[in-house]
Amino acid sequence: MGVCGSGKSTFGRLLAERCGGVFNDADDWHPAENIAKMAAGQPLDDEDRAPWLARMRREVVDAASNEGLTVLACSALKRAYREALGVGEDGVVLIHLAGSRELLAERLAGRAGHFMKPGMLESQLATLEVPGPEEGVTLDVERRLEDLLEAAERWLGVADG
Ligand SMILES: Nc1ncnc2c1ncn2[C@@H]1O[C@H](COP(=O)(O)OP(=O)(O)O)[C@@H](O)[C@H]1O
Ligand SMILES: [Mg+2]
Repeated sequence: MGVCGSGKSTFGRLLAERCGGVFNDADDWHPAENIAKMAAGQPLDDEDRAPWLARMRREVVDAASNEGLTVLACSALKRAYREALGVGEDGVVLIHLAGSRELLAERLAGRAGHFMKPGMLESQLATLEVPGPEEGVTLDVERRLEDLLEAAERWLGVADG
């Protein structure tokens, strides 16, 4: 989890790859109504998000194999969204990617081929309910990807060494 620009898609894909696991991006799981709404420039509300979260809970989290790792990259800004996804339940753990506003803005500006509405980062930072240590681990994305991946693997207990 994390706001836009925190590196969820980049880090999540690599983490899954390194662990021989499956990667899913929450952006790809929106129902057609949500895609239409976003395309029309309208923000999603919690009512729109409910079927999206329920779908990922069912088809990604609950469908995950006991062998190997399934990674879901999802902003999951509110505690209620994380609960809907099953965070804290058996086998479902949370990694929060966090960074300063300045760093995130810089990364978003440097990201190619990805449309981002102005004000998106501010609105996500305002919505973010920072997860407590009981929900999962927080990693500082100022660090190199390689370091972050190693830290995550250690925390997950899947490191080689
Ligand atoms: N740890 C990192 N160090 C340097 N650049 C990073 C790191 N993590 C992500 N990036 C870059 O930051 C940008 C945003 O990452 P992205 O994965 O698209 O974020 P999100 O999916 O959370 O919106 C991308 O251009 C990505 O290559
Ligand atoms: Mg992404």
